[in-house]
Amino acid sequence: MAESRHIWRMVTYIDAALAPLKNEGQIRLYRQEDFAGMRRASRLTAECLDALEDIVRPGLPTDEIDRFVYDFGLAHGALPATLGYKGYMKSTCVSINHVVCHGIPNEKPLKDGDIVNIDVTFLLDGWHGDSSRMYKVGNVKRAAERLMEVTYEAMMRGIAVIRPGATTGDIGHAIQEYAERERCSVVRDFCGHGVGRIFHDAPNILHYGNSYGSEAERHDAISKGRDIELKPGMIFTVEPMINLGRPQVKILSDGWTAVTRDRSLSAQYEHSVGVTETGCEIFTLSPRHEA
Ligand code: MF3
Ligand code: CO
Ligand code: CO
Repeated sequence: MAESRHIWRMVTYIDAALAPLKNEGQIRLYRQEDFAGMRRASRLTAECLDALEDIVRPGLPTDEIDRFVYDFGLAHGALPATLGYKGYMKSTCVSINHVVCHGIPNEKPLKDGDIVNIDVTFLLDGWHGDSSRMYKVGNVKRAAERLMEVTYEAMMRGIAVIRPGATTGDIGHAIQEYAERERCSVVRDFCGHGVGRIFHDAPNILHYGNSYGSEAERHDAISKGRDIELKPGMIFTVEPMINLGRPQVKILSDGWTAVTRDRSLSAQYEHSVGVTETGCEIFTLSPRHEA
């Protein structure tokens, strides 16, 4: 009789050129030529996030942000991937203060002192560029500013460990270790994801880690598919949500908006990245600040 108590779904990788355009749990490995497509879509997303810096201000209704992103995409031949996605009917997610993610743009104006995440995914020529950043609305309190800094640094520390042979768990571990050392918490209910030809693809990228007692335990986790080994050609997002208070979230009755249960502030940054032979390429770097 088979060991029924230990069923693990084995991780399989597949040549992205041969895979069906559907998330069936296999991990797509893209080719160098594919990276060019990701660069174009992601650059457009980053340019839009740059342009939003010039319009975010107290008094701006968040659906104006949504309209701006829709117009920006269409003017450049791209579609916002969230539009119509699982019934979501907006071009962006706009998540203010204690909203963790998936805030739905509406007529309410931004207020002085708000911190806001704007998440944009453009679909350009079949490629998804998914990225989000935090914006300060007017004068922001130091605690909120610090949360933004910690969250950005957490994302970059997660990205810094990406190379062939490292695992998805290494990314989460780097993020969690840093965020908790800074007395912040990591949201567990949402994660990063494979991206590329498909908006939300395998694998999940958790933003918290595994603690291994030994190297043998680490190998065990990899071989049983709990921790996925990174290989050249993988494309995914790193998008930690970090809270000033506790990590628990709840979803509001609109079915989308996720908020912190303790109403503490939450922040998020997101990049789309690709694993290279030696490390990783960040596709959604800001042309204005980071490129
Ligand atoms: N852009 C989000 C992400 O980073 C997904 C938003 S899905 C939506 O994965 F339906 F809420 F828009
Ligand atoms: Co994403
Ligand atoms: Co996103």
